[in-house]
Amino acid sequence: MNPKIIIHGGFFSESKTNKEIKIAKQKALTDIVKKSFRYLLNHSAAKTVVYSVELLENCPLFNAGTGSQIQSDGKIRMSASLMDGKTERFSGVINIRDIKNPIRLAEKLIDLEDRVLGGDEALAFARRCKIPYFNPEIPQRRIEFEEKMKRAKKGNGKGTVGCVALDKNGNIAAATSTGGKGFEVPGRVSDSATVAGNYANRCAGVSCTGVGEDIVNSALASKIVTRVSDGFSLKEAVDKSFAELKKNGGFAGIISIDNKGNFYHLDSHPYMVFALLDQSGIKVFE
Ligand code: GLY
Repeated sequence: MNPKIIIHGGFFSESKTNKEIKIAKQKALTDIVKKSFRYLLNHSAAKTVVYSVELLENCPLFNAGTGSQIQSDGKIRMSASLMDGKTERFSGVINIRDIKNPIRLAEKLIDLEDRVLGGDEALAFARRCKIPYFNPEIPQRRIEFEEKMKRAKKGNGKGTVGCVALDKNGNIAAATSTGGKGFEVPGRVSDSATVAGNYANRCAGVSCTGVGEDIVNSALASKIVTRVSDGFSLKEAVDKSFAELKKNGGFAGIISIDNKGNFYHLDSHPYMVFALLDQSGIKVFE
């Protein structure tokens, strides 16, 4: 099997006003997809999606890990999940604070009996795993937060990150990480650490971005993967599931790979930033 990888950096809604950020995001995705593809050549899909999402979390341009958006009480809470399509196991952390890489904590949970942890207990688990304190806030997010305070304006989950990979053994995995919608009510649960936002099995893998509530209403990632398992092509499964989400006024973006090596992506406007790489080369979009 020829290895393949697709990554995303969420929606790019600044494109009309800030070309510099757009170019910086495209460059970051190009660098990260190249590094991740090299890693994929010698690692499993599951190890690779974690590696790739860690790089995305470390890039302050995106709303995950460092650079996460701030919630309505002035605090950052992050969510991330891993789905290994080979073992069909899902793990995740919900509303974790004060760590650098939520996706690494999700990875630590994948072999355990209790695989999705939230809030303070997730943080206590992180400290038991010797994961140190880290403040993921950057000055730009505090400026945006102050603006939102004036207008009490909620966000749309823009800048969530994700990765889907197919390894040389034909196994698929997906990982997704987010700082949430921005300015949300504390305790709100994002789609990114649920099977609606991140899912994979032996047939396909999907990572979503957009408004978490819309994605959860549609059970988007798991629905697409189930449809592929039941005989739909990847394109048919994504098109149909996305049309159902749109019918209800939903806002989302999808990246996906199937076990035949097909990539497929679809999103609402404004567009997503994403990049894909396989033996035929690299492509970067929006
Ligand atoms: N999709 C990110 C969120 O709504 O939290």
